[in-house]
Amino acid sequence: MQTTIQTIAFIGGGNIAHNLIKGLIKSGYDRKKIIVSDADQAKLKALKKHFKITLAKDNHEAISKAHLVFLAVKPQILPEVCAQIAATVQKHKPIIISLAAGIRLNDLQNWLGSKTKIVRAMPNLAAAVGKSMTGLFAKKISIADKKLVARVLNLVGVILWLEKEDLLDVITCVCGSGPGIIYLFIECLQKAAIKLGVPVKAVDNLILQTVLGATILALNSEHDVKTLREQVTSPQGVTATAIKVLEQNNIEQLFKEALCAAHVRCKEIARK
Ligand SMILES: NC(=O)c1ccc[n+]([C@@H]2O[C@H](COP(=O)([O-])OP(=O)(O)OC[C@H]3O[C@@H](n4cnc5c(N)ncnc54)[C@H](OP(=O)(O)O)[C@@H]3O)[C@@H](O)[C@H]2O)c1
Repeated sequence: MQTTIQTIAFIGGGNIAHNLIKGLIKSGYDRKKIIVSDADQAKLKALKKHFKITLAKDNHEAISKAHLVFLAVKPQILPEVCAQIAATVQKHKPIIISLAAGIRLNDLQNWLGSKTKIVRAMPNLAAAVGKSMTGLFAKKISIADKKLVARVLNLVGVILWLEKEDLLDVITCVCGSGPGIIYLFIECLQKAAIKLGVPVKAVDNLILQTVLGATILALNSEHDVKTLREQVTSPQGVTATAIKVLEQNNIEQLFKEALCAAHVRCKEIARK
């Protein structure tokens, strides 16, 4: 398969790069075809020790050897990094996959060259276990290049090509930030369960298995989540009592406000 022979470079070897590399290797991707460059030598050494991947001496070397280049640095420093690598990108013409939250395709195109093949991708940390939900957006790249990017990112989860770039900001809030939001929700359930007497040692498995079971059930069900919730909520029953309290405290509004605030922040990052 074509994906097994493409060399992938990561510019930045932090959190998301770590999780993508872990997921790619877990899926059987040839670790010798993964090359990483990072400003932090200690981080690079740790990645090498952990994954036995190839290290580049700098960003230029990584890009010159790769077919696909993930830009995995913080959005705030991306303009500077792009200015530094633009000539190398234009010379070697890899497909660039920007993971940066909020940074627009037009800006990337201005920084890296108008002919550079660029895809914006928003994966999440579950890439490490092959379960990312990744939003993708591109304008000017060929179908063959789109298929290649899709094949690689499908190795670490499910992908969705978006028709409008604005939706990528929404995906960033819902899916990129999603694991963090869901972990908070799980922590709340854990604390409440402990208060009711569940032993601290057992609480992790108890709640995580419940969330996992509910998710897999919903993914495999012919019904939507609302119908499934209604099915387990008999009038005046135990679930109904819990849900009533959450609704009285306006849980839906709380989630709307949280995601709206995240969306505003995402747009702020793009303007900086
Ligand atoms: N974390 C997520 O769940 C997630 C999900 C989707 C997308 N993203 C996006 O992915 C990007 C990276 O996020 P992250 O959480 O992985 O950040 P991170 O953990 O800070 O990783 C970025 C890495 O890039 C390194 N770096 C800084 N300057 C560099 C340079 N000039 N050349 C090469 N490497 C350089 C940093 O080193 P220093 O620490 O020494 O500066 C750091 O190791 C962001 O744009 C973010 O929006 C993140």
